[in-house]
Amino acid sequence: MALHMLQQQEKILAFGRETPIQSLQHPQLAAAGIELWVKREDLIHPAISGNKWRKLKHNLLAASKAGYRQLLSFGGAYSNHIYALAAAGKLFGFETLGFIRGEQHLPLNKRLGFVIDQGMQLHYLSRSRYRQKNNAEFLADISAQFPHAFVIPEGGSNALAIPGVLEMMQEINTQKGGFDYYMLACGSGGTTAGLLASNPSGNIVAVSVLKGGSFLKDEISLLLGEYGSNCGTTKLELMLDYHFGGYAKHKPALLDFIQQFEADFGIPTEPVYTGKMFFALFDLLSKGYFRAGSRILAIHTGGLAPC
Ligand SMILES: Cc1ncc(COP(=O)(O)O)c(C=O)c1O
Repeated sequence: MALHMLQQQEKILAFGRETPIQSLQHPQLAAAGIELWVKREDLIHPAISGNKWRKLKHNLLAASKAGYRQLLSFGGAYSNHIYALAAAGKLFGFETLGFIRGEQHLPLNKRLGFVIDQGMQLHYLSRSRYRQKNNAEFLADISAQFPHAFVIPEGGSNALAIPGVLEMMQEINTQKGGFDYYMLACGSGGTTAGLLASNPSGNIVAVSVLKGGSFLKDEISLLLGEYGSNCGTTKLELMLDYHFGGYAKHKPALLDFIQQFEADFGIPTEPVYTGKMFFALFDLLSKGYFRAGSRILAIHTGGLAPC
């Protein structure tokens, strides 16, 4: 293997840091006799943060080992995944290509401005064409056009995303042992699949950030199958009622909650993923969903880059 590839892989392997697990104290928690902890994955890196890094890591290693110099992926104009991919490409020495849903809007928003600064080449796909992004024929076409590109699906959720999430779960086990509940936001299901594949001690409570997110259970099962895990989804509870109108939609109650949450705990969240997850957590707490005496771990999956 060429020296630059080995150096690239060493750099990928050395990236990241052990993220802290923070205890949250709140009268509502004390009254319910529940411990709440937060895994601060948002602190991994300002641009390559949270579950984005966990899902990308083994994709980047696979691309490097196979000698690819380019990474290609898909996302919306505010995608955390495209943002992290562009930064990772620059940091580890890959060219990056981002296929963006919809038409170009000028001036570019802050996220797309950032990805261009990182050297990413942008291509815009009409919404109807974008919907074909997982279709075999469409992907064959893309690979024929960009034969040197390693293709990563939207959100970075594929079988190679799972080992990175497993590493996070090992880190958690070493830091604090097992929990009764693991709570996280769910968009494409890759991170949730990784949690399940780790065969955790407790249940996974995944909050769909999409309207009509019940299909996510099948997506998660498919990903587990692709990865070769037979863990299944029996430990999964998918929460479908905290989408606030749909993906990236919000309501005043959510924005107020996010503000109050940061004031109470000093932890920033955002309205697309982690704000909805923490809102759901406190709502479920007030409804007596969690067993008294239990320990909950909420995973802060990042997503805080400027829009
Ligand atoms: C900040 C953040 N949290 C949670 C998620 C949901 O993760 P997944 O798509 O693996 O379900 C995403 C999207 O990947 C995200 O950007």
